[in-house]
Amino acid sequence: MAGQRFDIVVNGTGHSLELPGDTPLLDVLRTDLGLLGTRTGCLEGNCGACTVLLDGRPVQACDTPLGSVAGRRVETIEGLRLEAVREAFLAEQAAQCGYCTNGIIMTVAGLLGGTPAASRAAIVAVLDERHICRCGAQVRILRALDRAMGTVR
Ligand code: FES
Ligand code: FES
Repeated sequence: MAGQRFDIVVNGTGHSLELPGDTPLLDVLRTDLGLLGTRTGCLEGNCGACTVLLDGRPVQACDTPLGSVAGRRVETIEGLRLEAVREAFLAEQAAQCGYCTNGIIMTVAGLLGGTPAASRAAIVAVLDERHICRCGAQVRILRALDRAMGTVR
């Protein structure tokens, strides 16, 4: 398929990529840029494992075409600026297999780092709607959320 040139900024670094505009951002991150922290899950926008921040807001990278990202700011777990969120998840050991964890951290970081920051209830609602943890780490994930909220606010 013919490519087109797109300029994108990922974790503060500019990249110029010649690819079809409908290439999923998830493929660009993992295959073209080697950023493997963004996980591949359902590929249907249902599990949240692939969540990254786009202009500071959580989006599912499997469901985001490259063409919609040009000129915007992408942040992945490798470039996470709200370090307190990752530290909270580590402190609470809020993972079992860890497959869901990076996406959940990105959603929490995006919503806590927003202006205004989202409420706990709003963050829990988004986690419930957009993320799946098959290991049953939900209680520890909520403890990590509370720890992060106590640190960030
Ligand atoms: S892999 Fe993107 S939502 Fe599941
Ligand atoms: S820790 Fe395994 S899916 Fe969540």
